[in-house]
Amino acid sequence: MFEILTLNQISGKIYSVLDGYKITDTAKNPDAIIVRSFNMQDYQIQDNLLAVARAGAGVNNIPISRMTEVGIAVFNTPGANANAVKELTIAAMLLTSRGILQGVNWANSELADKGADVPKLVEKGKSQFGGIEISGKTLGVIGLGAIGVKVANAALALGMNVVGYDPYIKEEYKALLNPQVGKAELSDIFEQSDFISLHLPLTDSTRNTINAAVLSAVKPGAVIINMSRAELVDTSAVKNSLAEGRLRGYAVDFPTAETLNVKGIIAMPHLGASTEDAEENCAELAALQLKDYLENGNVKNSVNFPSLSKPRTASRRISIVYNTDRGVLEKIKALLSGIDYSLSFAESKDLGYALIDTDIDFWSGDVSYAESLAYEDDIISLRVL
Ligand code: MLT
Repeated sequence: MFEILTLNQISGKIYSVLDGYKITDTAKNPDAIIVRSFNMQDYQIQDNLLAVARAGAGVNNIPISRMTEVGIAVFNTPGANANAVKELTIAAMLLTSRGILQGVNWANSELADKGADVPKLVEKGKSQFGGIEISGKTLGVIGLGAIGVKVANAALALGMNVVGYDPYIKEEYKALLNPQVGKAELSDIFEQSDFISLHLPLTDSTRNTINAAVLSAVKPGAVIINMSRAELVDTSAVKNSLAEGRLRGYAVDFPTAETLNVKGIIAMPHLGASTEDAEENCAELAALQLKDYLENGNVKNSVNFPSLSKPRTASRRISIVYNTDRGVLEKIKALLSGIDYSLSFAESKDLGYALIDTDIDFWSGDVSYAESLAYEDDIISLRVL
């Protein structure tokens, strides 16, 4: 029975998918971990750990290279919460263009004891909470993955002009993108957009995508929407730009002490994926991918392993994680010469992954096939499933 450690509150959907597994939040040496936003950077990896599944898209809370070095697969669930984040992005554009939050707060605080005068005072005071409409304005979307494409298409439907930037857009997302979304260079996005929405993973190259230099080039009155990660934006540069009156607003779903109670900043408490629907979708997909990996060695939506999914064709399956470019596959083939097996493999820049289906007993012999392979230096890990 596989033992799963949950490091956050995860939707109950995982229990039906991982039926028969032991799932706790206290496991000391789990076979796999399911996590949302818990920071695992200092997590001490235990011997049994085979996989980590992130119920969400971003994986900056997981020490990917440490996991890769010891052959632990890390999965995420791209797209499973995309609709929830899209909806909050649209809400953020509306909240930054009109005085909705300010008006509601004013009514609740200033008018609470005004009795029958409330309707009259509302009409008298409401002009301070006016704003602009988003229809007819230009939205620049930076990052056209599962979320960015949904945001771009939804904004078009709301009457906005939309331009997008993503030099690495995947074919599947290109196919979903409305052809009316214009392609733009980053500099054009900054110059032309009334709203700039970030839909990027946090990496060393995306950190501070919005910085002082960028902010000096944005259209006066522009709004930055950041539903992705706080570190994509240089907060002090944003505060300076707001104070100078160049930026109209900044909406962020990852508050820090610097972004709370600042005029022009709407800081939401990481609500992007916090809908019942998205939490269920992410948990279910994370659990399904984990189960298929633990039981069949299949890899789908991994951020550090190459994709490889095959139906099983024999009674045993051996999964092997290996260093690429060192002739490991040739050694495997030499060892298995004379026996019936089928081999599939996939390689990324750093890592190779192979699945061998066979009916032979991989543990038989004085030194079994499994043991012979496990002693190969270039094999990072091996499982007989
Ligand atoms: C994500 O990266 O998809 C979100 O941060 C998910 C979450 O809220 O857990």
